[in-house]
Order: sequence, then structure tokens, then C-alpha cells
Amino acid sequence: MRGVKILILKDAEAVAKKSASLIVERINKNPKLVLGLATGETMLPLYEELRRAYKRGEVNFSEVKTFNLDEYFGINSDDKNSYRSYMDKELFNKVNLRKKNINFLDGDVKEYKKVCIDYEKKIKSVGGIDLQILGIGRNGHIAFNEPGSSFKSRTRKVRLSERTRRDNSKYFFSLRRVPKFALSMGIGTIMESKEIVLLASGKRKANAIHKSIDGKITNRIPASVLRKHKKATFILDRAAASDFNKI
Ligand code: F6R
Repeated sequence: MRGVKILILKDAEAVAKKSASLIVERINKNPKLVLGLATGETMLPLYEELRRAYKRGEVNFSEVKTFNLDEYFGINSDDKNSYRSYMDKELFNKVNLRKKNINFLDGDVKEYKKVCIDYEKKIKSVGGIDLQILGIGRNGHIAFNEPGSSFKSRTRKVRLSERTRRDNSKYFFSLRRVPKFALSMGIGTIMESKEIVLLASGKRKANAIHKSIDGKITNRIPASVLRKHKKATFILDRAAASDFNKI
């Protein structure tokens, strides 16, 4: 069966609790889970819930492997604005994930093409991603696959749209300092995950969610491709779901 399963919950906290319990359940079922992770504001309460679950002894990450979706290009992983630093702070340094099981795109190397090819190979070598967590951009992007990205795209260097740069500028001192490029898993790469869960909260995501679910499946709205996946779920709060069926 294809088509996205949609869960609509009260607020961002409920979205985080539900998605954290889904991840914990999948890890308990398969301690060697290959988990795809995202960064951004939406994920902050999710990582808080995962840290709590770990502290309560409900989950063991020691054999879990992770692959993050994306990283800014031209930023060192030690930089406070790198996605690697975000993940270290929010999750990696707080739970018992092993360093060797953490996979990340290095956005600060000249041989970025090799980095992208090796990332794809690494994903394949561990048998593919079992569960991929996604956020969504206001323009419908998933990872850093901006509108117009091919549904067949693989991990590569991408140009960030002005809207994405503006949205992410709150973490930098000025828009000028927001990187123009990133390395990102492709839509083709993401679609090969066995299960995909997209989280969205807040009114500012309502239009992108509405277009992804109610509109045409088109690469102008990258998240709409998820309707072609065998096992994709959107976990939304009421605000993010508030524009449904408005076409
Ligand atoms: C981040 C990522 C992006 C974000 C999206 C939403 O790793 O892949 O697609 O998920 O831009 O970001 P927030 O949650 O900050 O609104």
C-alpha cells in the first residue's frame, strides 16, 4: 500500500513524544537499527525526549548506527553552527551511541564528491536506512533537497534557496554568513529508507504540509514524493495540519 499515514496531535510536545516513542520502539525491536536523523528546530524537543528515555533506561543506543541527512558546506564540524555540533550537543554526547557508529557528511573538505559517494556506499554497506526521520522546510524541502531537486537525486552538493538561508539565519549573526551550499542526501537516497517519519509543528509549516499532501506529486514540493513511499508517516501538530484540504 502507498500513501502517507497522517497522525495529528495537539502540539509540538505531543509530536516529539510520539516520534521519540516510535524510535525507542524500533530500537527495542532491532537494537542494530540504522537510524537516519535530521537537525533543526523541530527536532529539538524530539532529542530532548530521546535523552529522557535514555536516562530512564528505556533505550540502549550502543549498537544503533546513525546517518545524518545533511551538513553545511564550507563549515568545519567543530564550528558551533555545524549540524555535527548540533547533534553532538543535542544527542550524540548525551546517550551511549558509539562514535564509530555515527556517520556524518563532512562539509569542509575539497574532495566533497568523494565524501558524497562514500556516504552512499556506507549506507548500502550497512543494509540501508531502517528508519529515516525528516523535517520539512517552508518551501517543502526535505533534507536540503530544495524545490526542483530530482526525485532520483543522490547525496551531493546543493545550493540553498534564499528562503532556506533566511529561515536558518537566526543561528548565524547575519544572512551574509549563512552558507550558500550544503551536502545533502538526495531524494532518491531518502526514498530507499525502509520507513520514513516526517515531523512538522507550527503554523509556519501548514502551507508546505498542505501542498505535500493535497497537491500534485511534484518536485516543486519535494516532500510530496513521500506519498510514493511504502511506509511513510507524517506526525503533525494541529497548527501544521491546519491547511489540509484547502485546495
Ligand atoms: C535539517 C534538514 C531540514 C530541516 C527543515 C526544517 O537536517 O534536513 O530539512 O528539517 O529545514 O527545519 P526546522 O525544523 O528548523 O524548521
